[in-house]
Amino acid sequence: MTLRDVESYSAMKLIQGQPQDETGMQDCSLIEEILQNRSLIIASNRGPISFQKDEQGQMESKRGGGGLVTALTGLANLTEAHWIACANTDEDRQWQRGPVSLDGSSNTVDVQFLAPQAAAYEGYYNGIANSLLWFLQHSMLDISRNPTIDRKTWQDWKDGYVAVNNLFAQRIAEQVRASRRPSLVMLQDYHLYLVPRLLRSLLPPRMDYTLMHFVHIPWPGSEDWGMLPPKMRLAILDGLLAADLVGFQTREDGLNFLRTCESFLPRAYVKFKYGRVWYRNHMTHVRDFPISIDVDSLRELADSAEVGAHRHSLLEEHTAQQLIVRVDRIDPSKNIVRGFRAFGELLEMHPEHLEKVQFLALLVPSRLNVELYQQYLAELMAAAGEVNVKYGNSEWEPIRILTGENYPRAVAALELYNVLVVNSLADGMNLVAKEGPLVNRREGVLILSERTGAFQQLEAGALMVPPLDIYATAEAMHQGLTMPEAERKEKAALLRSLVEGEDIVDWLCLQLEAIAHLGL
Ligand code: F6P
Repeated sequence: MTLRDVESYSAMKLIQGQPQDETGMQDCSLIEEILQNRSLIIASNRGPISFQKDEQGQMESKRGGGGLVTALTGLANLTEAHWIACANTDEDRQWQRGPVSLDGSSNTVDVQFLAPQAAAYEGYYNGIANSLLWFLQHSMLDISRNPTIDRKTWQDWKDGYVAVNNLFAQRIAEQVRASRRPSLVMLQDYHLYLVPRLLRSLLPPRMDYTLMHFVHIPWPGSEDWGMLPPKMRLAILDGLLAADLVGFQTREDGLNFLRTCESFLPRAYVKFKYGRVWYRNHMTHVRDFPISIDVDSLRELADSAEVGAHRHSLLEEHTAQQLIVRVDRIDPSKNIVRGFRAFGELLEMHPEHLEKVQFLALLVPSRLNVELYQQYLAELMAAAGEVNVKYGNSEWEPIRILTGENYPRAVAALELYNVLVVNSLADGMNLVAKEGPLVNRREGVLILSERTGAFQQLEAGALMVPPLDIYATAEAMHQGLTMPEAERKEKAALLRSLVEGEDIVDWLCLQLEAIAHLGL
């Protein structure tokens, strides 16, 4: 395969800067056309909303954060929409299904919760998706030690991952059959790789529906997939190749997928030039659709009194002349430990920053049922402690960690950084790298790992770091902290315009346009 072969393999042209219409969606010429004759079925592990009881026992709902919910809610305003997800709370389980307004308008989405047995969910979510696939797809296999695939892993596979994927497929099939119009099924992420094939087996071959699957995380090369037992690997590839369109964050991810199909499926006919695979009498198209953020609603939040109050208290508590900030889930792929070590290197190599700079890390606990995540939390605390003991004093704590899920506080911190660190080992996209430059008020500098999907779009305005290199990361921190104002302004303005140019709605438009252009 030559580079020329892959030239035509890319996402469709972006539609940018278009006015919004009454649905709240930017004008994307094909959205209405595609959706007017279809009903929409979205399926994801987490739902767009979750229910729980407050202290008084009153039922309250919490809308899922992020642009994905906003963007897909916008689509729901155009057609009948169903969202199928796993229940997260007892209240979700009791709710089962029903119409929910996700944007406060009279338009509703039919939210349906699946309630797998606790053991099945544990095997599917913690056992396979987060302990195995997540590590494999972020190139974090530590093959001399982890993972070991044992009897428990196979049980998690069979009674967890396969079983929960089956539950999804059955419910989606019911919904496709019940819909008055042909369905557009939009499957999300690595939790649901088996659903497309299972769904095909449940529905009659001639039934009219379109099946797309978007993979939010990296798709590594076939060498990594070679570490997975053939039975699992084949089920995943066979599963995805039952979809009509498989979307990835970057062109490299899509190419890696095509290479993986070529390496492991001798009966697949892979056409790199056109980004498609012919397999079991079916054509699957492969495209990249880089995801983004909801620019308008983030700006609105950044201007809110709530974020203002957090900004105020952060400024009172953190009086160092300059702030280095990071905002991450506590996840080994985020490379937080090396980020702290790099800060230690910075203080060692450039002592002029002592007592003048503070590293503020806002970290969200995540997947703590997985042992490697617990270990990572302990490791990063120890790494920060080491730097603080070595360089800190009673007046100055070099690294300050704030834990907990508090999005308005995170946005306030992003407004205040002089340097933002995103040094992930691998990242499907990394939305912090897009949120930061949009809301930052200090013409701050973005340090960005070359192994994030966001790097493809933001490279020109960021300081690139190879994630393993803490020496280079320390030097990038120094460069960011000492960058002349004119250069900082120029880079910050460039980043802002790059982020504004590709909104979350563009991500959706690209997918729907691809569906229209491919005649799916
Ligand atoms: O990046 C993949 C992803 O599933 C995101 O969609 C999500 O924000 C993140 O990981 C958190 O995952 P979880 O639902 O396991 O907390």
